[in-house]
Amino acid sequence: MAANRKLLILPGDGIGPEVMGEVKRVLDWMDSHRAITFDVDEDLVGGCAYDAHGAPLSDATMNKALAADAVLLGAVGGPTWEKLPFASQPERGLLRLRKDMELFANLRPAIVFDALAEASTLKTDLVAGLDILIIRELTGGVYFGEPRGITTLPNGERRGVNTQVYDTHEIVRIGRVAFELARKRSGRVCSVEKANVMESGVLWREEMTKLGAAEYPDVKLSHMYADNCAMQLVRAPKQFDVIVTDNLFGDLLSDCAAMLTGSLGMLPSASLGAADATGRRKALYEPVHGSAPDIAGTNKANPLATILSAAMMLRYSFDLADDADLLEQAVRDVLDAGYRTADIMQEGKILISCSDMGEIVVEAMTRRTT
Ligand code: IPM
Ligand code: MG
Repeated sequence: MAANRKLLILPGDGIGPEVMGEVKRVLDWMDSHRAITFDVDEDLVGGCAYDAHGAPLSDATMNKALAADAVLLGAVGGPTWEKLPFASQPERGLLRLRKDMELFANLRPAIVFDALAEASTLKTDLVAGLDILIIRELTGGVYFGEPRGITTLPNGERRGVNTQVYDTHEIVRIGRVAFELARKRSGRVCSVEKANVMESGVLWREEMTKLGAAEYPDVKLSHMYADNCAMQLVRAPKQFDVIVTDNLFGDLLSDCAAMLTGSLGMLPSASLGAADATGRRKALYEPVHGSAPDIAGTNKANPLATILSAAMMLRYSFDLADDADLLEQAVRDVLDAGYRTADIMQEGKILISCSDMGEIVVEAMTRRTT
């Protein structure tokens, strides 16, 4: 039986519209070949929203996002908008979506596809088969803590202030997401903070330990300082399975983990809120990469991170594991067949454009289902 899902698509800036174009192609295919159908609405976020409405996210768009079953976002930002006042910058649009939708759990898988293991800057045996999941707290910590701002001191100097702050419930709810997902994987969680320097880190470690002992004794919990974690990620990444960490450390460590895989252009992400009474979670899916203004409009971008984000949407928002598997498998097929966009190009492989990549992924899904 067909069920209509309400999707809000926010392509954003730079390569956002190009990569999202390929996701639309994938969704159209799903719409006509699978049991799921979508009501798709599209709107502006980031610099393009600023140009149109004078704000990186209008209230009207925010309301649409709150009403949608899932939001798919491309990327925001670019040199055109870098000099705008802080509150008008494209990134504020993304941060407002995260905050107002209360998307506290950011899932950033770092998976090395067999066909791409050699593309990593690390030695192949260090990364081959890598499959780790970084769970980043997304609505708290220094990103949103008060007080914040820039003030002028009596002596004429200026002071910039941000506040790293976590309350118990914020740590516990992200901890639960990590423990639950670890149960579906290898049953291991590594919790990361700087308890050697920061009180917020001490609290983080204590709460994770308590939660683990009380509710998840079957999951093996370890702790690591964030600087060591950065080092371990490039030294021996396969020691990790699920990493749970705060907003800022998660930002840094997920970029680091992304690079292990050889291309930022391959990495999807999901940002989830709390489940409501019906089990539905607010959710936003986006590639980890940015807007890549240098190649925007040239049809060179890699749409796979955004396509894989759509697969995460099928899995986490719509519980359609078969469709998610199909799409992920189609991506593997295409890579195994040697097709590459410029960012993951290797000798002897076939260089194709962004739109070709979308088309070939759809063909691979058709082949697998006929
Ligand atoms: C990310 C990005 C954002 C962040 C920016 C664009 C605000 O780096 O999603 O990792 O810092 O969270
Ligand atoms: Mg980042």
